[in-house]
Amino acid sequence: MKKTVCVAVTGGAGQISYGLLFRIAAGEMLGTNQPIILHLLEIPSMMDALTGVRMELEDCAFPLVHDIVCTDSPQVAFRDCEYALLVGARPRGKGMERKDLLQANASIFSAHGKAMNEVAARNIRVLVVGNPANTNALIAQQSAPDIDPGAFTAMMRLDHNRALAQIAQHAQVPLTAIQRVSIWGNHSATQYPSISHALVGGTAASEVVDISWYRNEMIPTVQQRGAAIIQARGASSAASAANAAIDHMRDWVMGTPEGDWTSMGIPSNGSYGVREGVICSYPVHCADGRYTIVPDLDIDEFSRNKIDLSVQELFEERAAVESLL
Ligand code: NAD
Ligand code: LMR
Repeated sequence: MKKTVCVAVTGGAGQISYGLLFRIAAGEMLGTNQPIILHLLEIPSMMDALTGVRMELEDCAFPLVHDIVCTDSPQVAFRDCEYALLVGARPRGKGMERKDLLQANASIFSAHGKAMNEVAARNIRVLVVGNPANTNALIAQQSAPDIDPGAFTAMMRLDHNRALAQIAQHAQVPLTAIQRVSIWGNHSATQYPSISHALVGGTAASEVVDISWYRNEMIPTVQQRGAAIIQARGASSAASAANAAIDHMRDWVMGTPEGDWTSMGIPSNGSYGVREGVICSYPVHCADGRYTIVPDLDIDEFSRNKIDLSVQELFEERAAVESLL
């Protein structure tokens, strides 16, 4: 068994957390040899509900869970934490875009960034789930100047998994046959799901997938999947979001499979023409607890236009919260 680590999850009584906490506690995120202390943060009015979640966690008798701390204080929640999953935020409703949540949610990520700066472990890894995830991650990062800026990531894994599922259904292949799908840009309707470098059963996806289906059906389906779920379910995705959060953190810590990569929202650094200053989704390899942008991919004109459009939106979101940066 490894040394016990603290994992903070915000919005602990919300929908996503209900699909997330039990899987973290079972060892699906950090491994079954990694004991944890869970730090669950909620707003004061949700503390009773959070107590109920804590009771259920206790009743699972998870051997890896050494303690559960429930609190409405960010300073308590993030103290000494090496992992933070920032889920606590308002979800959008029907007819809204994710960026319509910026004004409602931005201040949460500024407060949580400041608290992490004061009390979190210096090697913390942060995943922002609350929407708009990329810009909220930027706000948290900018509010925590004493933490490595690269520690702040935004969740694009749900989009990545959605793209895999669409291709598997279209090509009628098992999910495991698909590799090297990429999501570029923002977790929004402008995101660019790319199959330019993808493989299906080891063959270039462009030879297996009908290109008009890809351009006219798959791209919009992945871009609009969150809205379609809200329309159908009356609430935003929860279990699939929790699953993506587990996948994101697990791959960051334990590595992406040989020959494949994943998509993560990470600080832009000029790679692929995306200038510094936003949290942008790139294809990444993970190994030894670090992510690196997949190098040297050819970007054709179709892709260039799509990436630029989504990056432009990221900079517009950035401008809208400039006072918090
Ligand atoms: P929810 O309303 O069920 O739960 C959110 C919880 O956060 C609530 O319990 C609320 O009390 C809590 N909360 C609010 N402010 C808080 C604060 N300052 N500190 C701590 N907790 C706070 O919502 P949900 O369905 O769990 O979704 C959470 C967020 O995740 C939403 O913003 C949603 O849009 C987003 N989301 C992102 C993705 C993604 O792919 N990035 C996917 C799905 C949902
Ligand atoms: C999703 O992609 O399902 C989430 O971001 C929720 C939403 O608002 O679409």
